[in-house]
Amino acid sequence: MQAKTIETEVTKIEADCLIVPYLQGEPLGLQVSQIDRALGGLWSRMAEANEITGRFPERKLVATLGKLTAPRVLFVSLGRADQLDGYRLRNALQFAARDLRAFCPKVAVVVDAAVRDALAVPVTGQASQSPARAMVEGIVLGNYQPGEFKMAEATAQIKEVLVVGLGSGSDLAGALVAGKRLAEATNATRVLQWRPSNRLTPADFVEEAGVVAKAGGLRLKVVERPEMEKLGMGALLAVAQGSHVPPKLVVLRYKPRSSDRSGKVLALVGKGITFDTGGISLKPNPGMANMKSDMSGAAAVLHAIGVIAKTEPHIEVMAVAPLAENMPGGGATKPGDVVVAMNGKTIEINNTDAEGRLVLADALCYAVSQGATHLVDVATLTGAVSIALGHPVTAAMSNSPELLAAVRAAAQEAGERVWELPLLPEHDVALTCDIADMRNTAGIPAAGTINGAIFIREFVADRPWVHLDIAASSYHDEPLLAGLVPKGPTGAMTRTLAHLPFHLG
Ligand code: BES
Ligand code: MN
Ligand code: ZN
Repeated sequence: MQAKTIETEVTKIEADCLIVPYLQGEPLGLQVSQIDRALGGLWSRMAEANEITGRFPERKLVATLGKLTAPRVLFVSLGRADQLDGYRLRNALQFAARDLRAFCPKVAVVVDAAVRDALAVPVTGQASQSPARAMVEGIVLGNYQPGEFKMAEATAQIKEVLVVGLGSGSDLAGALVAGKRLAEATNATRVLQWRPSNRLTPADFVEEAGVVAKAGGLRLKVVERPEMEKLGMGALLAVAQGSHVPPKLVVLRYKPRSSDRSGKVLALVGKGITFDTGGISLKPNPGMANMKSDMSGAAAVLHAIGVIAKTEPHIEVMAVAPLAENMPGGGATKPGDVVVAMNGKTIEINNTDAEGRLVLADALCYAVSQGATHLVDVATLTGAVSIALGHPVTAAMSNSPELLAAVRAAAQEAGERVWELPLLPEHDVALTCDIADMRNTAGIPAAGTINGAIFIREFVADRPWVHLDIAASSYHDEPLLAGLVPKGPTGAMTRTLAHLPFHLG
């Protein structure tokens, strides 16, 4: 995909379709009303006649019949200005790109001043470029298709996007490159999320990591079972022991060429369960196939560090992904078994379906042993998070207001959403255990998402840490939401984590 900014007059833009985002209940801005005028006031008349409502993310495709150089215009509502954020913007453009990709290889997004101003997010020095980047991200995200294994289907894609109305020049060109890279990384996460477990085992994931490492010049280390045993990773090994496929711990490291000497080492730790049956605490049948995406956190940290390798922040970053299959079997861990994690803490596994926190425990200990000073884990950890917050937001829990603030700023820049859940002193008692230092679940349906965090916190050695539960935000399949959020895998937190090192300064 190619992305360019242009300053051509809107009536003369050469593209298969002009994409025109507008705000609900507000007059069209200068450039866009020029399009409307050239079409004889078509948009205004449709609005007048209630043929378009302006509700997010309504799209109206019209033929221009020679009145503009471009043969089509797609009007896209961004909804109300006071409800617009980077998340909604990218979703709207993603829908637009999905509408058009089959027959429009070249599109132009015409950005009105009103839209640009509604999007001016004052997060970093890059703020002025963020609208252009966001537009490209939305379009590239719309190129994602779930049919990796469809043999017959042609994969039509948008191949070229022009951004009109935001100026041009080299800093904008940089923003477009960044947007393309960030969205392509997000799509790469989505591909891995939807790849079935027989095509994405821990060993297959290691191969994927090899490709990313090579492209970015990253150091790749794979910890195999014998080394896990030597290191005392009893929690990760307990999860893997019911499966015939061996576990792997993937570690990718980015070292800056010029360091800022702050000594900060950021570890991004992603849950990599390539399939979660629940183990002996077996999951019920409906929906179990979705558990092929229980490695969404691992995929996100992999493709985030792939971007980081190209954007070259001044702090060191490592991506750590504990990979295993959670299976029942003759050798599987049984409820009530006690294991010892790498930091020496003992765990009663009272539910083998709470396996994510177990593999993260040893991965976090490992990251600390490798010098991590700041830890962010990302995991499809609890079904409870979709009860608490629903799909359009990632739950965040933390022991560090500063690191959480950095994650929030990165998420805002990325057009993703995070929402904090509290870790209160009264929550601490949930994992109290009679026979070991802790148990892995509370055994009652209360504060399930928070309990996951309480468990994981035992393995971060009091370093600043943020836990991101993406069990809901990593995909959705809800008919009622389908019109608002593109359904299927989202690649959640890939872009947020890619921005994060720049917010740790
Ligand atoms: N991978 C699941 C969480 C999940 C559920 C992700 C639904 C995506 C959609 C996780 O390993 C799990 O099974 N969690 C348990 C925790 C419980 C046993 C405390 C859950 O949510 O039921
Ligand atoms: Mn589970
Ligand atoms: Zn799981």
